[in-house]
Amino acid sequence: MYKLNGKVTDEFDFYKGNDVFDLIAAYGSPLYVYNEEIIRKRCRELKNLVSYPNFLVQYSAKANTGLAFLQIVKSEGLHVDAMSPGEIYAELEAGFKSEDIFMISNNVSEAEMQFAIDRNILICVDSVEQLKQYGRLNPHSKVAIRFNGGIGAGHHEKVITAGKKTKFGVNPEYVPEVKNILKEYDLKLTGVQQHIGSLFMDADPYVNGSNAILDIAKQFDDLDFIDLGGGFGIPYKKQSDQPRLDLKECGKKLDECFAGFAKSYGKELTFRIEPGRYISAESSVLLTDVHCVKYNGPHKFAGTDIGFNVLVRPAMYDSHHDIEVYARQSRPVNEEEITVVGNICESGDIIAKDRLLPEIKAGDILGVLDAGAYGHSMSSNYNNRLRPAEVLIRENGDVVLTRKRDTLEQLLENYVKINI
Ligand code: LLP
Repeated sequence: MYKLNGKVTDEFDFYKGNDVFDLIAAYGSPLYVYNEEIIRKRCRELKNLVSYPNFLVQYSAKANTGLAFLQIVKSEGLHVDAMSPGEIYAELEAGFKSEDIFMISNNVSEAEMQFAIDRNILICVDSVEQLKQYGRLNPHSKVAIRFNGGIGAGHHEKVITAGKKTKFGVNPEYVPEVKNILKEYDLKLTGVQQHIGSLFMDADPYVNGSNAILDIAKQFDDLDFIDLGGGFGIPYKKQSDQPRLDLKECGKKLDECFAGFAKSYGKELTFRIEPGRYISAESSVLLTDVHCVKYNGPHKFAGTDIGFNVLVRPAMYDSHHDIEVYARQSRPVNEEEITVVGNICESGDIIAKDRLLPEIKAGDILGVLDAGAYGHSMSSNYNNRLRPAEVLIRENGDVVLTRKRDTLEQLLENYVKINI
C-alpha cells in the first residue's frame, strides 16, 4: 500500500506492518481496525494523571463496549462505568467484577435498577425521584448521587451534560430533600458524581467543574469517593498539528484541588475520573473502500462504505475526523477539495465536507482516524446495512478478529412475519 498522507498513522506505527488492502480483503469494508498498544498507553497515561494516592480511573464504556476492548481495559486495572443492563452484561463477560462496575443511571426503570442491585453493583442515581425508587428497591444499602453543579462544557450542545438546560443530575438546591430520603430508607451516601460534558482540550473547565462538585460534597460528611466524570479530549485535527490536552498541567491542577479538599474534609476519600473518549478514540482507524468518484457541478464526491450508520459523529455533531488516503500503486500527491460521503439514502450522509485531501480514486482505501470512541458503539443497521467487523492489531503485530460483521440473517432474526 502507498500512503498518500500517512503522517499520523506512521507516527503511531498504527498498522505495525499490516497492509490495509490485505485487511479489507480478509475482513471486508468498512472495517474498524484497533491498535492494542494505543489502548494500553492511554489507560496508563490516565492512571498516572495525578500523584494523589487514592485515585481511580473508571473507563466510560459507552465510548466503546467491544468485549476485547473491555478485556484490555480490565487487564490495565481500570474500573468501568455502565449506563444500562447491556453494558453491565458485557462488562461482567469481559471479566470485570461487580465491585469494579459503577452504574450511572439516567431515567432507568425499576427492572433495570434491580438488574444492577441483583449483581451487587453500586448505583448512582440522578434525580430525587430515582433516589426514592432506589430506596424502595434496596433500603439499608449504599448509593451514590449524580449532582449538577451548574458548570457544563463540551464540543457540541448535544454533549454538554451539566447546567440548567440539561436533563442530568440533582440540582444542589435539593440537598435537604436528598438528606431526608437517605434517612427515610436508611441509605448511606457513599459517593457523589458529576459529568460536565464531553471533550475539553484545556484543563480549566474540568477543574472549575470539579470545584463545583467539591462544594456540593462538603454538604455530606461521610463520603467514600467523589467522581469527577469524563470529558478528557483528544486532538481530532492531528494532520494540522493540533496540540494534545496537557495532562501534566491538568494533573497538577487536580492534585491541588484534591489535596485542598482532603485537608478540609477531614477524611481520606478516593477521587475518580470517568474517561471514555481519551481511552478509546485514537485506538481505531475506520477503513473503507472507495467505490466511486464523481462530480455534481463543481462539487467532487468520493463515495465510500462509511454511511452514518457506521460512524454517526460527523452527521450528528458536525465532528471532524482526519482522513488518510491509501493507494495500491504509488502516484503523485495532488491535493484537491473533495466531499467524502457514505452509501445511505440521505444527503446528510457526509463524513467530510469540502476537505482538502490528496486526489482520491475509485479503488483506493480511506482511513478515517480517531474512530475508536462513539464509532462502533453508536453504529446501527439503518438502510438494513450490516454493522462492520472489528479487528485488533496485537502488540506483536498479529491481527485478530474481535467482532464479526453482522449477517443478513441477523437483520431479520427478531422480526415476526404475519399471516397475509
Ligand atoms: N461519564 C458519563 C456519565 C458520561 O455521560 C460520559 C459521556 C462519560 C463519562 C465519558 O465522556 P468522555 O470522556 O467520553 O467525553 N457521542 C458523543 C459523546 C457523548 C458523551 C456522552 N457521555 C461523541 O461522539 O462525541
